[in-house]
This record gives sequence, structure tokens and C-alpha cells, in this order.
Amino acid sequence: MEAEVTILSLTNKPECRSDPNQVVPLTQGDIRQLYLANHPRIAADAIARALYEMPGISQWHPASGEFLLASPWRHRADIPMIRDLTAFTHEDELVQAMVQVARARGMRGIIASESYEKRRPEFYLRNGMRRLETVIAFVHHRVQDYLDVNRESVQQFVQVTMDDLPLIEQIIALDHAAFGPIWGNSHAEFAWWMSIPSVEVWVGMIDDEVTSYYGTTFYQKFGHLDRIAVHPDYQGKGLGADTLMAAMQRMADLKRKNAALCTQADNVASQALYRRAGFERYPNDDYDMYGILFDEANNA
Ligand SMILES: CC(C)(COP(=O)(O)OP(=O)(O)OC[C@H]1O[C@@H](n2cnc3c(N)ncnc32)[C@H](O)[C@@H]1OP(=O)(O)O)[C@@H](O)C(=O)NCCC(=O)NCCS
Repeated sequence: MEAEVTILSLTNKPECRSDPNQVVPLTQGDIRQLYLANHPRIAADAIARALYEMPGISQWHPASGEFLLASPWRHRADIPMIRDLTAFTHEDELVQAMVQVARARGMRGIIASESYEKRRPEFYLRNGMRRLETVIAFVHHRVQDYLDVNRESVQQFVQVTMDDLPLIEQIIALDHAAFGPIWGNSHAEFAWWMSIPSVEVWVGMIDDEVTSYYGTTFYQKFGHLDRIAVHPDYQGKGLGADTLMAAMQRMADLKRKNAALCTQADNVASQALYRRAGFERYPNDDYDMYGILFDEANNA
């Protein structure tokens, strides 16, 4: 049976707040009324930050204190994700209120990633979500072997900093051409990612043209390949293997023994590339991503 939803105005006028049994948008002023002592996943400052980044999308049920905290998916203003859902009896109402606001604001969709919280499949079905993606993990335990490989690259690799705006623009254009609507990196995502001191981004070029890029986060004992992409005009010509080789050699130079990465379960090209380079599956880190893409729902 579908839950009966009572959703008030999408604005947050004071008069909307009179009935505590109705789901309403969560605001900064409400945070102190949430019961956060010993909360297993979220603290007040993280809630305040999420509300600042994406106001009006998070919801709560004042009578019970249950809440749904939304934050931008990969720093994107057009897709909110369920960052936390602390609810016992009103979870469907909270989700549906969030979906309604996101749709009314012309957003692209909503996402619930199981890398944060796992839920039963019925929860997603009940709330009109489908599995958008399964993310699968790979590891490599012989990164040091790459020190001995003689690489004759057709690409020239240059390390990128956030100061080089024209180059960043070219990388973002490549990124959007290579990745689909869910995975394209926003400017804000790049700015956040590249501000992390242990992140390196390198671009591959032929003559003066940007042909590929990769980004790695260096943890103490391993390197995580966060991103690799070849411009669609150059795919299938060996540049992916060349770029991966550059990434692995950089990890080896920086004395990492292991490497890790994730990709989409349906991305056959990247999986073949990784397996060929000696990566092995690591299913412990796999997770599903659910959500609604509004365009798709409208066209159904
Ligand atoms: C994945 C990607 C980087 C591969 O780059 P590429 O330049 O096309 O790959 P290469 O030409 O170097 O091919 C390397 C290997 O990948 C595999 N591969 C590449 N394209 C493939 C395809 N369409 N189907 C199956 N395997 C493929 C092959 O095993 C190939 O080795 P082989 O030619 O010896 O058989 C590129 O397709 C891409 O940028 N995709 C979009 C972004 C992306 O998905 N990135 C990875 C996400 S984690």
C-alpha cells in the first residue's frame, strides 16, 4: 500500500510549521531540535553544512524528530542525494517530500548511494527508485612491478593544478564527453577534489591537444585511482592503457605497493582495461546506487 503523504508548501514559511505531524523542509533553526546525541552517522555541523550547500531539500517530521538530510551528489547543484535518513515510521513521507521538492525545482533526479547506508530493495521500489548503477571494486597488489616497465608513450603527461583554469576547462570538457549524466564531474567537484593535498591530477596530451586525464588519491599504503578517461575521439587506440600505465608508474615512483579503484558494473571497456593491467576484483567494496532520473521517469 502506498503511504499517504502530507506535504506542505515547498517554501519554508513560519505558518507551515504549525502542525508538527506534517513533513516540512528542515532548516538551520531546526537543527537543535533534532535528537543527535550518539547519532551513529551524522553530527550537527555536518547537517548545518549540508543545509547550507543545498537549502530547502532536506525534510523533517517535527513531532517525531525524524529527518532526511540531502546533500549535493558529487558537489552538483542539480542532483541531491540522501545523505542520511534517520526515520522509523515516516521514511517514505520524508523521501517523497524530498522527491517532490527536487522535481518542482527542475532538478535532474535524486540519488541514494549504498556507500553511505544500506536499505532493503523494497524501500527503493516503494519510493519509485530503481537501481541506477552497481559500482564494483578492483585492487592491484604488485604496483612496484611497474618500476621495471619501459613505457614509450605517445602522450606527454603534465601535472595539473587548480590555477591552470584553461587546462581545467579542457579536462572538464573531456570528462563530460567521456562520462554519462550521473558521473560527469562539476567544476565544484574538481575544485573540492583537487584541494585535497594527497590528490594528484595529470593530463595526457598529444601535441597541444588534451587526450586523456587521470587522478589519484595517495593514501599511506596504497594509491586510489579516482578517475581515468580518454577523450571519445581517441578511445580504442591504446591511450587508455597508456594513461593507466602512467598512473601505475606514478604510484610505483611514490612507493605505493597496492592500488585500488572502482568502476561501473556495466563498464566493460574499463574492466577489460583494468584486468589486462593486473587488477583483480575486490567485491567487499562493491555497492549499489539507487535513485530517480526525472527525465527518464517523465518519458516512461
Ligand atoms: C575506459 C577507457 C579509459 C579506455 O580507454 P581506451 O583508450 O578506449 O582504451 P585502449 O584503447 O587503451 O584499450 C585498452 C584495453 O581496454 C579494453 N577496451 C577498450 N575499449 C573497449 C571496449 N569498447 N570494449 C571492451 N574492451 C575495451 C581492451 O581490453 C583494450 O585492450 P586491447 O585493445 O589490447 O584488447 C575509455 O573507454 C574511457 O575514457 N571511457 C569513459 C570513461 C570511463 O569509463 N572511465 C573509467 C571509469 S572508472
